[in-house]
Amino acid sequence: MTAFKRSILSAESTNKVASELQQRLVDLIDLALQLKQAHWAVVGSGFQPVHEQLDSILDDVRDASDEVAERVATLGVAPDGRAATVAASSKLPGLDGGFTDYQSTVTAVAELLHATISGLRESIEPLGDLDPISEDLLIGISAGLEKHFWMLQAQEL
Ligand SMILES: [Fe+2]
Repeated sequence: MTAFKRSILSAESTNKVASELQQRLVDLIDLALQLKQAHWAVVGSGFQPVHEQLDSILDDVRDASDEVAERVATLGVAPDGRAATVAASSKLPGLDGGFTDYQSTVTAVAELLHATISGLRESIEPLGDLDPISEDLLIGISAGLEKHFWMLQAQEL
């Protein structure tokens, strides 16, 4: 069901695509919030490069959440990025509170990115049949996050 006079997709496809994108949206918003938390809480040896690396990942994640939300709106459905919705429906694990050493930060953020990427890839497959434009959007987002994921994992060895 779309709010607009004309629909790009059928009502059934709109609902399915918007539902996939909405889940990815809340994960990306949660990831952005937790990246800032990790950016503030990291301490110890390796502080400066990780502190800066987390902000560069965050720039891409914020752009990605904006693109996903605007795709939902384009399809005629209101995206829901409210804090209460994000808290209730994000599929990501939660970071521990408090200052966190460099290695634990890298590992925890790698886990967050892994969960986000897994969710994106779960949505990419059904979107291939329903809406290739939304599929293409998520493929591009996942490609960028997968590169950041590599650079985090490379620091764990
Ligand atoms: Fe900062």
